[in-house]
Amino acid sequence: MTQRFPDSFLWGGAVAANQYEGGYDADGKGLSIQDVMPRGIMAPPSDEPTSDNLKLVGIDFYHRYAEDIALFAEMGFGIFRFSVAWSRIFPRGDEETPNEAGLAFYDRLLDELEAHGIEPMITISHYETPLHLARTYDGWVDRRMIGFYERYARTLFERYGHRVKYWLTFNEINSVLHAPLMSGGIWTPKEELSPSQLYQAIHHELVASASATRIAREINPEIQVGCMVLAMPIYPLTPDPADVLAVMKADHENLAFGDVHVRGAYPGYFLRSLAEAGVELEITESDRETLAKNTVDFVSFSYYMSLCEAASGGVRTEGNIMGGVQNPTLPASEWGWQIDPTGLRIVMNQFWDRWGKPLFIVENGLGARDVLVERDGTPTVEDDYRIAYLRDHLLQVGEAIADGVDVRGYTWWGPIDVVSASTAQLSKRYGFIYVDRNDDGSGTLARHKKKSFGYYADVIASHGASLHD
Ligand code: BG6
Repeated sequence: MTQRFPDSFLWGGAVAANQYEGGYDADGKGLSIQDVMPRGIMAPPSDEPTSDNLKLVGIDFYHRYAEDIALFAEMGFGIFRFSVAWSRIFPRGDEETPNEAGLAFYDRLLDELEAHGIEPMITISHYETPLHLARTYDGWVDRRMIGFYERYARTLFERYGHRVKYWLTFNEINSVLHAPLMSGGIWTPKEELSPSQLYQAIHHELVASASATRIAREINPEIQVGCMVLAMPIYPLTPDPADVLAVMKADHENLAFGDVHVRGAYPGYFLRSLAEAGVELEITESDRETLAKNTVDFVSFSYYMSLCEAASGGVRTEGNIMGGVQNPTLPASEWGWQIDPTGLRIVMNQFWDRWGKPLFIVENGLGARDVLVERDGTPTVEDDYRIAYLRDHLLQVGEAIADGVDVRGYTWWGPIDVVSASTAQLSKRYGFIYVDRNDDGSGTLARHKKKSFGYYADVIASHGASLHD
């Protein structure tokens, strides 16, 4: 069906501070866990920042933001999703007073977006817990994190809450199940972490998320707060009911996070799995009230791929933070993530049917190795594979809209090349804008428009009509 997107649909791009800002120690910034994670999620952290960590410089957005935002504006962006680096605002994380120079950077960034008429969307915490909080408190395992996060969130709402409408509390909050250090700032190695510690950390994050929602509304009732989940449709490998049940259980692991954010209480299936694992959560009366009274305005999610699940058998595969059983019907990216545009329509319908809250697709994209070529004397990348991924996924968003799903916007992941979260490489590129920086740290940091730059600009200008050309 030819589908023009609603005029109010917000088109744009999304990034995270630790993957693109650089300036890791600029203007009083403290260290974050990412400053000691030079090799991505699976490798143990280093003792201190090392020069092979590409995130220390990132793509130097900290100093080049004006140039980059002008390029986003040229593509016609209506929205830009970025995160605030927590350790720029509270360098250790447990201080009473914020770092004014850190706050001032985001004032400048917001000024620049405003000058171009681009709406900001802020992720309060995107995989960049201050290192001190990770090392000293074991991150979210410790209940005191709720207070530190509340102070940080309040500081942001007070400073920017009159000019930023859309806020996300935690990036891919369900990813803590798989990447406790990156997602939850938990210093205890994953293999040593007990289920009780992990689920208590999850509970603390959920309470902190609800509490931030309350604070936002106190400061400005116009603010819209969303949760952000890693969306992963999971299909049964076969029609065997045992496989379907395995899918239901795997789905529940992820859906629990949205259920708590939208419904304000833990679902029965979640309580059952805790009981079976022998986990007794410490939940206070005030925690329950906080969760119940401060549910979200919208649900946002990342979508890159789908997986299969089976009671037994199948070939294991890895994907965006979580792994599962390989789907024999789908192609995969160079990093093995299985490409499934239809899965986006499926998950949008599932979320809308389940929660009835407006949706926001805040990440979707293809990481690929790009080759820089010269066209008419100008460096560029002929990234037809990225254009195909974008087109195929947006066509499915159009289908979901036709299905009646209320979706408010779409922000492509990494509209400019950034450092990969999982592998810490720059060669895993998502951008419409190429950044001249390589995995060994060499490069001029110059920006070049890829072929997809013009393609996305046309999609935005035509409200999606050009997808059908
Ligand atoms: C999401 C994260 O999991 O996927 C981003 O929110 C991340 O931070 C993105 O960059 C793509 O993953 P990767 O590992 O290819 O960078």
